[in-house]
Amino acid sequence: MRTYLVTGGAGFIGSNYIHYMFRKYGDEIRIINVDALTYAGNLANLKDLEDRGNYTFIHADITDKPAIGKIFKENDIDRVVHFAAESHVDRSITTPEVFVTTNVLGTAVMLNSAKAAWERPDGTYPEGKKFLHVSTDEVYGSLPDDGKSYFYETTPYSPHSPYSASKAGSDFLVKSYMDTYHFPANITNTSNNYGPYQFPEKLIPLLINNALSGRELPVYGDGMNIRDWLYVDDHAKGIDMVQEQGKLFETYNIGGHNEKRNIEIVHLVIDTLLELLPEDDPRRANVSRDLIRFVGDRKGHDRRYAIAPDKIKAEIGWEPETKFEDGIRKTIRWYLDNQEWLQNVTSGDYQSYYEKMYSNR
Ligand code: NAD
Ligand code: DAU
Repeated sequence: MRTYLVTGGAGFIGSNYIHYMFRKYGDEIRIINVDALTYAGNLANLKDLEDRGNYTFIHADITDKPAIGKIFKENDIDRVVHFAAESHVDRSITTPEVFVTTNVLGTAVMLNSAKAAWERPDGTYPEGKKFLHVSTDEVYGSLPDDGKSYFYETTPYSPHSPYSASKAGSDFLVKSYMDTYHFPANITNTSNNYGPYQFPEKLIPLLINNALSGRELPVYGDGMNIRDWLYVDDHAKGIDMVQEQGKLFETYNIGGHNEKRNIEIVHLVIDTLLELLPEDDPRRANVSRDLIRFVGDRKGHDRRYAIAPDKIKAEIGWEPETKFEDGIRKTIRWYLDNQEWLQNVTSGDYQSYYEKMYSNR
């Protein structure tokens, strides 16, 4: 039985990935989920898996070298899928240090622990040992608003935010392990994900949450920035396909070919909420375009991201499957059906975060 060590599995993409993997492989695989449970980690995302014999949760920090070393020592790990990171650009602008610690140092600890566990005395690695580093398209910087330039795997890195700089640092560490030690790894650089279990600091769940409670919908700058949206299950499938069918040592860009301006997303979320909320639901009265408020721009705000997923399509046959109209409906439906989840994650610390982040914009 193949054993996976997934880091950050209690977060948004990690938890969707774990669900995807159990749907696909059932009892053929074993997953160990290692997560520090920061504000972004939530075991409620994996509640339905708690009783599975082939799923284990370990509460540990990826920067804790002895703890991570122990996990490798006690388990014969075949695959590492490394999601754990600080992931929110706005937070990186106010508190950059933790991004360097988790994203750079944490990745170094993960790489070194896997190398120590897997490397043979002659410097080779057993067949089937593989490390996949989950990264972002933000490392490539910003594209002109021309609708025809794209991020390719060969695009030079040009990160602008402390978040993307720390992810670029972690990518370079993985590249250095491949080049120096022939360490068996892949890197994936992916565009903006959306779907269930996303923490409402990110645009789409923040809009849903605010609209349902009649709160303003903050749009940074002129609202014309472009992001390339990918449904999270399509990302999970891409990660698995890269690890099983991709060439080792290669980078693959994963993107939805689905560019939208932020203001389009805002309108779509409002329209879809009005379509899905029953006529007699009291929250309907809150939802309206009058809630839109243009606020001060994000510092260093990248104008446009757009992935060219040509390589992953040509070499592996992966393509995004979920149409945006369907994905956004599924996502909003999920938030409507999981109000308790939303209330739990927005109580407590979230209120002071929101106050601090949005009061002076
Ligand atoms: P998230 O913030 O929802 O989840 C991050 C998870 O990592 C949480 O469960 C958190 O508890 C855990 N974590 C944080 N610090 C840790 C530490 N020191 N030790 C152990 N666990 C720790 O993030 P996400 O949106 O699911 O992103 C997952 C990964 O995918 C990140 O590496 C991110 O850079 C990358 N990515 C995200 C997107 C996106 O659109 N969200 C797109 C491309 C790439
Ligand atoms: O491109 C991949 C990246 O996508 C990932 O690497 C990051 O982890 C992930 O957080 C995401 O980064 P973005 O900064 O693009 O996502 P966010 O949801 O924060 O913002 C999306 C766009 O919406 C961006 O242009 C900023 C804008 N925005 C965001 C928020 C939170 C607003 O206009 N208002 C808001 O309140």
